[in-house]
Amino acid sequence: ALERTFSMIKPDATRRNLTGAITKKFEEAGLTVIASKRVWMSRREAEGFYAVHKERPFFGELVESMTSGPTVVQVLQGENAIAKNREIMGATNPTQAAEGTIRKEFALSIGENSVHGSDAPETAAEEVAYWFSETEIVG
Ligand code: CMP
Repeated sequence: ALERTFSMIKPDATRRNLTGAITKKFEEAGLTVIASKRVWMSRREAEGFYAVHKERPFFGELVESMTSGPTVVQVLQGENAIAKNREIMGATNPTQAAEGTIRKEFALSIGENSVHGSDAPETAAEEVAYWFSETEIVG
């Protein structure tokens, strides 16, 4: 089915000027960028976005890295966009990511893993709505 998913190009990647290289991977796989903006998220925004992880030992480190520089938040659209995006990203831990994936090519560590993508339809809808209003999304 035609789906929308939420994607972020994280500060470790924007810092290395990888926004274009990463976006190209999405487009080459048939996903269309239907919304995109660059944001420097506040601590409050990062904590709210990642609230599901707040009891995890890495939460502090996660918020630190997500507020350390600009992030590019995007909405991607395409056939099976949610699963397709996860395939293009590769495993969360770059040491386990498959050849050719974004995380294999660009990620520095599990914490600085260059991209985030929604894992299911419900989280995709929530995450898109967290960063975008409907008028900013041009499908
Ligand atoms: P992401 O898809 O953005 O969702 C939560 C993030 O937490 C994850 O990618 C990783 O960047 C980060 N994360 C997960 N596990 C760890 C860990 N063990 N140490 C540091 N960061 C982690």
